[in-house]
Amino acid sequence: MIRFEHVTKRYADGTTAVDDLSFEVAEGELITLVGPSGCGKTTTMKMVNRLIEPTDGRILLDGEDVADADPVELRRRIGYVIQQVGLFPHKTVLDNTATVPHLLGRPRKAARARAAELLDLVGLDPAVYGDRYPDQLSGGQRQRVGVARALAADPPVLLMDEPFGAVDPVVREHLQNEFLRLQSTLHKTVLFVTHDIEEAVRLGDRIAVYGSGRIEQLDTPATVLGAPATPYTAEFVGADRGLKRLAVTPVEAADLDEPPVVRLDDPAARAADALSADGAPWAVVLDADGAPYGWVAADALAAPEGPAAGRSATVRDLARPMAASVPLGTPLRQALSTLLQHDAGWLAVLDGDRYRGVLTPARLHGALRRATTADATDLPRAEVALDTVPGT
Ligand SMILES: Nc1ncnc2c1ncn2[C@@H]1O[C@H](COP(=O)(O)OP(=O)(O)OP(=O)(O)O)[C@@H](O)[C@H]1O
Ligand SMILES: [Mg+2]
Repeated sequence: MIRFEHVTKRYADGTTAVDDLSFEVAEGELITLVGPSGCGKTTTMKMVNRLIEPTDGRILLDGEDVADADPVELRRRIGYVIQQVGLFPHKTVLDNTATVPHLLGRPRKAARARAAELLDLVGLDPAVYGDRYPDQLSGGQRQRVGVARALAADPPVLLMDEPFGAVDPVVREHLQNEFLRLQSTLHKTVLFVTHDIEEAVRLGDRIAVYGSGRIEQLDTPATVLGAPATPYTAEFVGADRGLKRLAVTPVEAADLDEPPVVRLDDPAARAADALSADGAPWAVVLDADGAPYGWVAADALAAPEGPAAGRSATVRDLARPMAASVPLGTPLRQALSTLLQHDAGWLAVLDGDRYRGVLTPARLHGALRRATTADATDLPRAEVALDTVPGT
């Protein structure tokens, strides 16, 4: 959808802001550009909508060289969100949002109706906020208006330059989540600049890690964190990259343990025999519908004590309720947090209502390793021309 071919930007004073950059953003893909201040992120972005012209190379949008496009027409196809939102201070929130549709020739009333829809979409009730002026909003609310306005012409492409950079971490996380939700229905092609690796990891389908004017690595968050391509990338993503990786790796069926399973109404003696045949210290207990109930220890089954003592004991008498469960697809970080929170040695993993298996700390570790190797061998979703990466 957006293709950079050997793009270089040299400023008049000799600064090379972007150096022979080649990569492609697939349709509907969100790539985060992350890197330290001055490494060329904003320059990269502004060359797409021709706020800056490259010195060398070309940028194709949907196969068309942007240099051949009329800049005004080009910018209609490209929404642009920046940190200092740049709202008109003397216009209401609704009018700010309606400006673009109106400019595009929609009658004023229709433009305002569309603007109200967009405000709703970004979580601002138009009845409450529509008539306010920008200085009557919080920083986070202003950023939302910025996003609504960028979406107003329904552009297929969005350029976002640190759009959530100016708000505090809590609001930022909220805006990120809202944006992810929005993106999951809108499927825009997005270049998103940030210098926050956490934000890059949370939002990006892929992350481009910038060194000075160059991309050091372009890959999925799991691979960038799990297998940094260069020492620079390793340092940039941080010594705690293993922890960060937990957030981007989901629990999959192949990660699970399958301890023996017994039913609530099984006689204890029969269940005990099944476990000892297996040599298993405990079993998962399912109810009659196959939903997980809890667990039972082999010892307890073999020698029922207390009120359960006696020949007629069933698993129900000896089972303990399950501490916790998570659905398949849960990020490992959340699974680990659930494990710790319940002080549990394992979690039941569900597929809908159905029990699928058990996640243990050892299995969690295995899942992390699986994620890295799988991503390293699976080719990334989009075709990448990475001739700017050292060693390729
Ligand atoms: N008009 C200009 N003339 C000369 N040098 C410039 C100009 N604009 C930007 N630069 C330089 O180009 C380099 C890249 O700038 P750019 O704005 O792309 O960085 P950035 O990665 O967006 O940084 P930040 O995270 O601070 O926003 C910097 O060294 C900057 O000083
Ligand atoms: Mg910048």
